[in-house]
Amino acid sequence: MLRIEWTTQEPPPSPRQLLVAPMTTDLDADEVERRFGASIRAALIDSPFTGKSGETFSFTREIDGGLRRVVFLGVGLSLSSAESVRRFGHDAVRHAQSLGSHDLVIDIRGSIVKLGTDVDPSRLGDLMAQGVALGTYAYERFLTDRKPQTLERVLVLANDLRSGDGVTSGQIVANAICKARDLTNGPGELVTPTFLADAAKEIAARLSANHDVEARILERAECEARNMGCFLGVAKGSAEPPKFIHLRYTPPGGGKGRIALIGKGVTFDSGGYSLKPTASMLEMKMDMAGAAATLGAFEGAVGLGVPWELHVIVAATENMIGGRAYRLGDVLTASNGRTVEINNTDAEGRLTLADALVYASGLDPDIMIDFATLTGACVVALGPRIAGVMSHDERLVNDWMNASKRSGEPMWRLPLPDDLKEELKSKVADLRNTGERYGGAITAGLFLSEFAQGRRWLHVDIAGPAIVSKAHGITPVGGSGFAVATILEWLRGEIDLDV
Ligand code: BES
Ligand code: MN
Ligand code: ZN
Repeated sequence: MLRIEWTTQEPPPSPRQLLVAPMTTDLDADEVERRFGASIRAALIDSPFTGKSGETFSFTREIDGGLRRVVFLGVGLSLSSAESVRRFGHDAVRHAQSLGSHDLVIDIRGSIVKLGTDVDPSRLGDLMAQGVALGTYAYERFLTDRKPQTLERVLVLANDLRSGDGVTSGQIVANAICKARDLTNGPGELVTPTFLADAAKEIAARLSANHDVEARILERAECEARNMGCFLGVAKGSAEPPKFIHLRYTPPGGGKGRIALIGKGVTFDSGGYSLKPTASMLEMKMDMAGAAATLGAFEGAVGLGVPWELHVIVAATENMIGGRAYRLGDVLTASNGRTVEINNTDAEGRLTLADALVYASGLDPDIMIDFATLTGACVVALGPRIAGVMSHDERLVNDWMNASKRSGEPMWRLPLPDDLKEELKSKVADLRNTGERYGGAITAGLFLSEFAQGRRWLHVDIAGPAIVSKAHGITPVGGSGFAVATILEWLRGEIDLDV
């Protein structure tokens, strides 16, 4: 594991050490001279380096009789937003790794970091540590030819020690995101419902040494006893046993309220008999990204010691074809008694979530939020980087959207218009599982609302941002761990509990 330390003392140069300093486009030549000498100032002015994001200016410097490699990393206009700090930490690590460095010194002394008023100054260490730790992420489980990790230590050289207070919490957040990414990136053959259940048990076992944490796994028979007909209907076609996962955390003293996080855990979505074409099926090992986000966030939340009783619920299954698979026209009965006619077996996520929401409601939570790679329509509506947020609860939306602004994970609210429920009417059952083509993200949200049992509930459709096909910012291709950072921001911030 990478060590991240915070210091005000410039360390002596050592072999394979790299010092990275951020530079903005309004870089101050006097400050450069003060910190790196007159010749570097002259060379910099003479170079094409302007401080634009991604630009670099490298040189080697003699210090205390040793040599040190230095890179100025362009960061653009300013280092003021949460996103820019995280991005800089990430890019510095990437640069050090590409040079095979053992030791990275990140020099943010002077006046280069000017956090905006919307960023809590005590968060500098947190944000920097997140960027640094995420900069080392790669999914390499199935690579026989892994690049060896050379980087052992990152030392942040800052104006004062206190600004580094958040390093530990930043590392906790980054680890939670990496946990979610690993689970999401695992192929369906590996990350089965059983694998997800084992991951939940492993998290609980590890945390229960120091915390009041418990994992409960309901097997198929227990789900049958609870009449989870929608979840089990989806699971029928799979040779992998379904697992209904329930994690609980109770903070010392009991917590300020009870929160349930529900994650869609379809470990592979073939579409069922409404079979997906190859190109769409190709990424459907990631249809458990919601589950991964809630499991990662659970681990992070306990590590951070959030003051809420926390429940994570995942109804984990595959959506497959075969002689036992559910059919078009079948009628399934959910655990709240509602009957659902299946008019598309590829709208399976909402069926698994229906029983998960009913179960979560039974825990008497103050708030429940679900995370799901639910609809391609949400990606059409908001593009690949923005999640859709749906809820009838204005205060909950408000707190949630503020957390999303702080975390830097973009989200946008979509409406839940009552009159579109028309589309979910069936002639033979209480509901059918899909509406018409347009507004598919919304009708999916409306379907879920039928199972929220009147609770305070919010739905996050992460179909776009959870699965990344083109790297951007600090997000690599593959599973992004999207939503973990916002969940942790939300749980760390103010949550309005009054209805
Ligand atoms: N898992 C998919 C949604 C999805 C699509 C996630 C693309 C990520 C990227 C979901 O189960 C699904 O298949 N939804 C259908 C719903 C339709 C049948 C109403 C869809 O979006 O096509
Ligand atoms: Mn589907
Ligand atoms: Zn799906």
